[in-house]
Amino acid sequence: MGDRAMDVICEIGEMKAQRANWSRPIGLVPTMGCLHDGHVALVRRAREETATVIVTIFVNPTQFGPSEDFGRYPRTLERDLELLQAEGTDVVFVPSASEMYPEEFSSWVEVEDVTSRFEGESRPRHFRGVATVCNKLFNIVGADRAYFGQKDAQQVAVIKRMIQDLNMNLDVVVIPTVREPDGLAMSSRNSYLGPSERAAATVLYRALRVARDMHGQGCCDAAVVARSMRESVAEEQLAQLDYAAVVDPLSFHELESIECPALAIVAVRIGATRLIDNMLLNDE
Ligand code: PAF
Repeated sequence: MGDRAMDVICEIGEMKAQRANWSRPIGLVPTMGCLHDGHVALVRRAREETATVIVTIFVNPTQFGPSEDFGRYPRTLERDLELLQAEGTDVVFVPSASEMYPEEFSSWVEVEDVTSRFEGESRPRHFRGVATVCNKLFNIVGADRAYFGQKDAQQVAVIKRMIQDLNMNLDVVVIPTVREPDGLAMSSRNSYLGPSERAAATVLYRALRVARDMHGQGCCDAAVVARSMRESVAEEQLAQLDYAAVVDPLSFHELESIECPALAIVAVRIGATRLIDNMLLNDE
């Protein structure tokens, strides 16, 4: 790995012109950069399964709310490109905002229902931005498979819904969450955390373990499990709970009884940093 030449392309026209040269299947790993081991796992899986691996790096402005962290989102392009070269990536697409959203841009993808709860409620318009940019990237790349992390489980559910509803011709491959040794899910936003906040951030994993342990011991009452998750988060002084729930992993409807499949989800604010995580209760 790492010996082949990697193309870095910034223009949509150039991507389309190059497409005829790419062997199929084409695997797409959409990212916002600041790559970590979670992204590496996606690229490695794409490398194993597809003939051409294309990674996109684009901090998509339309999925950030006005008071969110678009401006300070970490941008580490040089390091990201070195890492992608070492992983044997074929093409990296790094468009500018004006390339993706020219002045006359006025078409949006709205996925209903699954976007109305949890992340969708806390971050209005977030999923409209995600669905729209993913749709554009799928079209620009002509991907056969797109690789996403389980950590952003609601994003996965939205993308799957969009692909099914709009009869799009690509498969979604979901890769398990990569965690730090203490359980914190890898995320570019972890870099915002100061030392005491970093220690407090393990509260998400602790709450999910509570859910998994309760279910493992036979508790199938989702409300009881969710309440214990909330109590677990409340024990951490630096953590401010956004939500903790047990949901269906495709619809994100809250469950009453934990039957297969069930997903425990949690979102917490630690200082100025908002973190999310989840755990399949019948899987790990
Ligand atoms: O998960 C992300 O990094 C982003 O939401 C994505 C899928 C690259 C779209 O901007």
